[in-house]
Amino acid sequence: MCGIVAYKGKEQALPILIKGLKRLEYRGYDSAGVALYDNSVSDIKIYKKQGKVKELENLIDGKSPKSGVGIGHTRWATHGEPSDINAHPHRSHNGRLSLVHNGIIENYAAIKTELQKKGYTFESQTDTEVLASFIDYIITSEDCSLEEGVRLALTRVVGAYAIVVIAKDNPDTLIAARKGSPLVIGIKEDDGSFFLASDATPIVEYTKKVVYLKDEEMAVISGNQMTIKSLEDVEQTPQVHELDLNLEAIEKGGYEHFMLKEIFEQPNSIADCMRGRLKANEGKLVLGGIHEYANALTNAQRIVIVACGTSWHAGLVAEYIIEDFCRIPVEVEYASEFRYRNPIINEGDIVIAISQSGETADTLAALELAKSKGAIILGVVNAVGSSISRITHEGAYLHAGPEIGVASTKAFTAQLTVLIMMALRIAHRKGTITESKYHELLVELESIPAKIKKALDVNDQIKEISARFKDARNFIYLGRGYNFPVALEGALKLKEISYIHAEGYPAAEMKHGPIALIDEEMPVVFIATRDSSYEKVVSNIQEVKARKGKVIAIVTEGEETINQIADFVIEVPHTSEALMPLVSVIPLQLLSYHIAVMRGCNVDQPRNLAKSVTVE
Ligand code: F6R
Repeated sequence: MCGIVAYKGKEQALPILIKGLKRLEYRGYDSAGVALYDNSVSDIKIYKKQGKVKELENLIDGKSPKSGVGIGHTRWATHGEPSDINAHPHRSHNGRLSLVHNGIIENYAAIKTELQKKGYTFESQTDTEVLASFIDYIITSEDCSLEEGVRLALTRVVGAYAIVVIAKDNPDTLIAARKGSPLVIGIKEDDGSFFLASDATPIVEYTKKVVYLKDEEMAVISGNQMTIKSLEDVEQTPQVHELDLNLEAIEKGGYEHFMLKEIFEQPNSIADCMRGRLKANEGKLVLGGIHEYANALTNAQRIVIVACGTSWHAGLVAEYIIEDFCRIPVEVEYASEFRYRNPIINEGDIVIAISQSGETADTLAALELAKSKGAIILGVVNAVGSSISRITHEGAYLHAGPEIGVASTKAFTAQLTVLIMMALRIAHRKGTITESKYHELLVELESIPAKIKKALDVNDQIKEISARFKDARNFIYLGRGYNFPVALEGALKLKEISYIHAEGYPAAEMKHGPIALIDEEMPVVFIATRDSSYEKVVSNIQEVKARKGKVIAIVTEGEETINQIADFVIEVPHTSEALMPLVSVIPLQLLSYHIAVMRGCNVDQPRNLAKSVTVE
C-alpha cells in the first residue's frame, strides 16, 4: 500500500529513487513521483505522474536537477482517485516543505477545514497534502523548527503513517517518522549516506546495515548524522541490524514475471523454510522461534488464527491439520472481522497471525486486540523485521525470500510448511500422534520439495489447457477436506490476476446452490487427489459432467477412474493427505498464471491490488 523511498548522500538521488520506486512498485502503482532539492534555485522540484514509474521517468526525461537529497513515492490510492495531482510527493500550501506518505490520516478532514479557515488552499483530495500544510502551519504558528513542527503535527494526527519530509530552508535534512506503516533506514557509513524505504529491497544493493524505525519514532538525518527520537522528544538508541537479503532474490532472474519465478522457486523456498528445522532421519523437528511459549502452545485449550486473503487460506489448512493431529480446537478468522466483532479472547489463549508481508493493517490490529486481552500472540511471517514480527511474543519466519509478484504463491506453500511443522511438533509433544505416523510425516514433509519439482513438470500441459479456457467468464473450484482451502486459493489466484470471476467451494456444497451455474460453458476445477474423500469427489465430478460442465481435475499420478470422466486431467505426485495442499496448489498457480498472461493481464501488478495492504 504505497511505497516510499528517500535518499540523502553524495550520489545523485534521482537514479537511486527511480530504481527504488521500481522495486517498491508492487506496493502500489496508480501513480509515482519524486521531489528533489535543487541547489541552483534553493527550492524543491517535484515531478509526479499518474501511472507506473516508467511514466514518471518519461516525464522527467533528464530534466531533473542534480541533487543529493530526494524523496519518492509509488501510490495505491486511498483518498482521491489516481491522478497527477493526487500523486505524491505533496507540497505544503506555501511550498516550504514536501512529503511522501504511506498510510491514512483519519482526522484529515477536520484539520483541512481548520486550515482552510486560516486561508490555506489545497490542490489535491489527499490526506497527505493536509499533513504537509499542517506541519507548515505548526512551524509558522508556534515559530518552531522543522523537526519540532513535524513532531508536534504527528502528535496531533490520528491514523497510520510512514512519512519522509524535506524542506527548502533545510536542504541538508531529511525527517522521517512512522506509526503503523513500515519504514527502514539503510546506513552507508563509509560515505555518510542514508537510504529510506518502505522495505529493504531498494536499500540492499547499497548497504546491509539497517535500522527498522519503530512506531511513533522519528529519524532526523542532518549532514551525515542520524538521531532517532520518540514523538515525546526523547532520544532513542537505534538498533542496527544486518540485512539477510541478496540482490538476486529481488530480480526476475530470466523469468518473464516475478510470479512465474516465484512459482518455480517453490522447491527451493520450501527447502529453505525447513532448513535447520527438520531432519527426518534424526527425528529432528524444531522451530527455534517458538521457545518460551512452546509449552503454552502445546497445552493450548484453543487456538485462533487471524489472517487475510491467501494467508487466511493457509490458516484453514492449519485448522484441519491442528485439529486432526493435535486435537486442539482452532478458529480461523478474517482479521478484518475479528477485530471489529468483540471476539471472546481469554487470558492465555493462543492467537496466531499468518502474514507474508507482516504489515497487513487488519492482521496487525487483530493481534493488538488479542494482546490487549491477554492472549499469547505468535506470528508466521515472511518479511523479517516487519511490524507483525515485532509485536508478536514469538513466531516462526517463513524464510521463503522476498515475494514480489502481487499474487502470493511461494509464501502460501511456505506458510503451509511452517504450520505443518508447528502442528507436528505440538502433536508429538502432546502424544496425540503415534511415533510411527510422526516419523512417516517427517519423511514425507522432507520429500515435498522434490514432489513440487515434479508437479511443476505439468507447466506445458497447463499452458494448453489455459489456451482452451482463457476466454471463460466464470470458473468454479471444488475440493474436499484438506483440498477445500486449495480450491479457495485456486479461485482467488485466478480472479486476482486474470479478472475472471471464480468461486471456490467444498465439493459437496455444490449441490446446495452453485450447481445451478453449471452448463456446457462452465469450467469446473476439481482437486481430486487420492485421499479419504476421493470416492465422494468422484461422485461430485459425475454430477458436474451430468450437467455438461467442463471438468479439469487435479489427480494423483497413476489415476485411472477420473481419466474416464473428466475433460482434462493433471497429475501430481502422491503424498500424505495432510501435505497434499503443498502439491495440489501448484497446477492451480500455473493455471491462473498462464490464463492471465494469455489474456494480456499484468500478472505481477494486477489492477486495483497492492502487495502489502497497510490500510484497513
Ligand atoms: C493473494 C494475496 C493477498 C494476501 C493478503 C494478505 O494472492 O496476496 O490475498 O494474501 O493481502 O497479505 P499478507 O499475507 O501479507 O498479510
